Amino acid sequence: MYKILKAESPAENIFMMDVEAPRVAKTCLPGQFVIVKMDEKGERVPLTICDYSREKGTVTIVFQVVGASTDKMSHLKAGDAFRDFTGPLGQPSEFVHEPAEELKKKKILFVAGGVGTAPVYPQVKWLHENGIDADVIVGAKNHELLILEKEMEAVAGNLYITTDDGSYKRKGMVTEVIKDLVQNEGKKYDVCVAIGPMIMMKFVCLLTKELGIPTIVSMNPVMVDGTGMCGACRLTVDGKVKFACVDGPEFDGHAVNFDEAMKRQQLYKTQEGRAMLKLKEGDTHHGGCGNCGGDQ
Ligand code: NAD
Ligand code: FES
Repeated sequence: MYKILKAESPAENIFMMDVEAPRVAKTCLPGQFVIVKMDEKGERVPLTICDYSREKGTVTIVFQVVGASTDKMSHLKAGDAFRDFTGPLGQPSEFVHEPAEELKKKKILFVAGGVGTAPVYPQVKWLHENGIDADVIVGAKNHELLILEKEMEAVAGNLYITTDDGSYKRKGMVTEVIKDLVQNEGKKYDVCVAIGPMIMMKFVCLLTKELGIPTIVSMNPVMVDGTGMCGACRLTVDGKVKFACVDGPEFDGHAVNFDEAMKRQQLYKTQEGRAMLKLKEGDTHHGGCGNCGGDQ
């Protein structure tokens, strides 16, 4: 069992928990995810890691209530426990493998949208701890839905907050801030990391392609079981079939077919849609389980 040490709700429908999971905390890196299960029969829920403490042996998760399992999870309190807390899974962010001296030469821009701020935070924190201060744009629908502001402020080089309705700091979407920084303030970036809703990542990528900024996105939103078995997270990246939970979750955003991924995400929600996808995709329907040949 994995004990919850702290449980809070930083915004409506958003929950944050510190979980005692020393083995995951010891080896996890930014960009990776865990799969949590409340009880024996519970659904497997993949969640990106928001923070970790190797000393305390804790991992912080953030989730939004989107269905029955996350609703059930939202009622857990400090002292309760998860049945399973499997991880770290997925590939870490590419930059953790780059020599610090090379990274220090790069100007990195992070774009975080809504709950996507949670997986951006450990990346910015890791860079800060390694002497690299990145610029960070955080977008939220309104002030009440903004999360991790203080935490992000402590680790970002420059933090730009924008709200869709203008209830706090700048008004407008994250894409408007990118344009403003690059076109009006003359900022130059070598790489952009965009994590948030699919529609945000799509529009950030369209813009950064135009601006000539290579962009990495996290395709966590299309994951269902996180094991390479269900076939839900299938994507086309650079014309090739990939599975977010096995090959990602991070990919070159300019090579991801977002329209197909969003359409597929909708189809996957119904039984009829899933049957249709299986029929259309045949043997390649599944991910990298290694048993069905779908990963060949
Ligand atoms: P949201 O709808 O409030 O959007 C957050 C911000 O994204 C907005 O404030 C805006 O600045 C920007 N945005 C939205 N649509 C845009 C557009 N068309 N063009 C430009 N910018 C746009 O976000 P939310 O409700 O917190 O997001 C929930 C979604 O985030 C869920 O679908 C979840 O799957 C996803 N999510 C993604 C990840 C990931 O790893 N990519 C992680 C956690 C959550
Ligand atoms: Fe099921 Fe990737 S989430 S195959």
